[in-house]
Amino acid sequence: MLRVAQALDTQLRAAMQRAFPEATAAAGTPLDPQLAPASKPEFGDFQANGALPLAKPLGQPPRQIAQAIVEQLAADPAFGELCLEPVIAGPGFINLTLRPECLCAEVAARLGDARLGVPSVSAAAPVVVDFSSPNIAKEMHVGHLRSTIIGDCLARVLEFRGHDVLRLNHVGDWGTQFGMLITHLKQVAPEALQTADAVDLGDLVTFYRQAKARFDEDEAFQSTSREEVVKLQGGDPLSLKAWGLLCEQSRREFQRIYDRLDIRLSERGESFYNPYLQGVVDDLKARGLLVLDDGAGCVFLEGVSGKDGKPLPLIVQKSDGGFNYATTDLAAIRYRLALPPAGDGAGRLIYVTDAGQAAHFAGVFQVARRAGWVTGAARIEHVPFGLVQGEDGKKLKTRAGDTVRLKDLLDEAVERAESDLRRRLVEEDRSEEEAFIAHVATTVGMAAVKYADLSTNRVTNYQFSFDRMLALSGNTAPYLLYAVVRIAGIARKGGDLGGGATGAPERVEAQALSFSEPQEWALIRELLKLDAVIAEVEEELLPNRLCSYLFELSQVFNRFYDQVPVLKADEPARSSRLALCRLSADTLKLGLGLLGIPTLERM
Ligand code: ARG
Repeated sequence: MLRVAQALDTQLRAAMQRAFPEATAAAGTPLDPQLAPASKPEFGDFQANGALPLAKPLGQPPRQIAQAIVEQLAADPAFGELCLEPVIAGPGFINLTLRPECLCAEVAARLGDARLGVPSVSAAAPVVVDFSSPNIAKEMHVGHLRSTIIGDCLARVLEFRGHDVLRLNHVGDWGTQFGMLITHLKQVAPEALQTADAVDLGDLVTFYRQAKARFDEDEAFQSTSREEVVKLQGGDPLSLKAWGLLCEQSRREFQRIYDRLDIRLSERGESFYNPYLQGVVDDLKARGLLVLDDGAGCVFLEGVSGKDGKPLPLIVQKSDGGFNYATTDLAAIRYRLALPPAGDGAGRLIYVTDAGQAAHFAGVFQVARRAGWVTGAARIEHVPFGLVQGEDGKKLKTRAGDTVRLKDLLDEAVERAESDLRRRLVEEDRSEEEAFIAHVATTVGMAAVKYADLSTNRVTNYQFSFDRMLALSGNTAPYLLYAVVRIAGIARKGGDLGGGATGAPERVEAQALSFSEPQEWALIRELLKLDAVIAEVEEELLPNRLCSYLFELSQVFNRFYDQVPVLKADEPARSSRLALCRLSADTLKLGLGLLGIPTLERM
């Protein structure tokens, strides 16, 4: 109800100005009504708390101030169209309850709108969401899975709001690991450097581990590896070819995971920024920020000090002249913010990684700002998330103690969803085709993995539990999917949910809607929160807010449907209630879609 809230805010400001013209003039800006959604349903829809802070400057009791505002509101016919008579509560809160006609008009407007009342912005500058970003020749792990799921959800929300989103996969495809790997492969599996598909990613990961072990103990191996990196970064054609093959191998493997999760990403790995790295260091030097410390090029960070109390450096050029992760991220910021054709011209940069990289990003962002690369209203945000833990609260491991492979994790989610489903079919004495079972199991399995991740506050660590994420009750994907299935069932039982086969929104006249039950009003008020929730996720980048909303909505819907007759009701209640069912299904589908979760008609 952002639009309604906006109108009320304007009316309140005008009322306050009329009630207290001198105070408004003295403040130099309109007095703030502090309008917020009501903290409890019995207070109505909104509350305005702006009378309280005025008590001191006006030297009046806040209830008296509230009274003066309410009197002015009563004189505004536009306000009278939206709200019932305001109620002054407690020390001087103004409680506002919308008129039933106003709520019906909002419901009707949403029924005829494919965007369900969520306005779309007309932002000019693209938004970069940097997410997933696994490392070549290494296995993609559960941390990357979290980044992938959260990043995709944020990208979907921003896209739905109308932003042009660049979904960038900042893969680790450059740097010292290739020197080790190429040196090792030349000796043990040279075919991997010449022909595509000679080894699979599992082998590559093993080779990488062996190479790392040799690198750590064998000096000769170390220096050959370093020479290999120099050759690669210098553009040696054979090295580049080997590098390309290794990347291709990993990329195919990553893509399988993305396909299963329905994730779209544009790969723009670290190597992309190679030509810009020297420029970063040169520019930092020209701006007087670069300091040589033990042969390494650094920028000393402001407000960040180490144990000895001295400021910590951000190293941008190693003493051997090489560049690092931070140099690449600085080059990436510059490129992403620079106007086309020199860059992306983005207005907001969002980085989704584990919280362990918070210090890295804080340092990099600070240096970018001090270098003057972050101009105007550009926003740069790190979106951190906690660790994935097993049910024992320790780092997630297989029973044998190995790191969990993503493919195995997704397979297990689907297998478990399938056996749950088969058990339910037996219990309910249903028989279904194998294709149906496979489709439902895959959808539920992927949905459960995504939803479990998105529904916890991302900042905290997250305990991975198949049992919990696949449960049909509680704040889980199956519970939400089931609410949608339940509504689809109403249509199968003869309830016309409108929209027809095309699913196109169908206009309903507000006057045709008639509601009387508290469960109906509770559902309406919940449905009308969607736009505010989405705007909040766009701002705060917390997908769990959307999850909580959808869970709450499903619960309110289930209460409505359990307690109020729909198909057996008389007109006009019957079609009004069916309209609420349709809007509930559409809202759940839209919301789940923004989480990257497709819905089912039956399950
Ligand atoms: N490749 C990194 C990792 O696996 C994540 C990269 C995140 N993005 C960035 N621009 N630094 O930890």
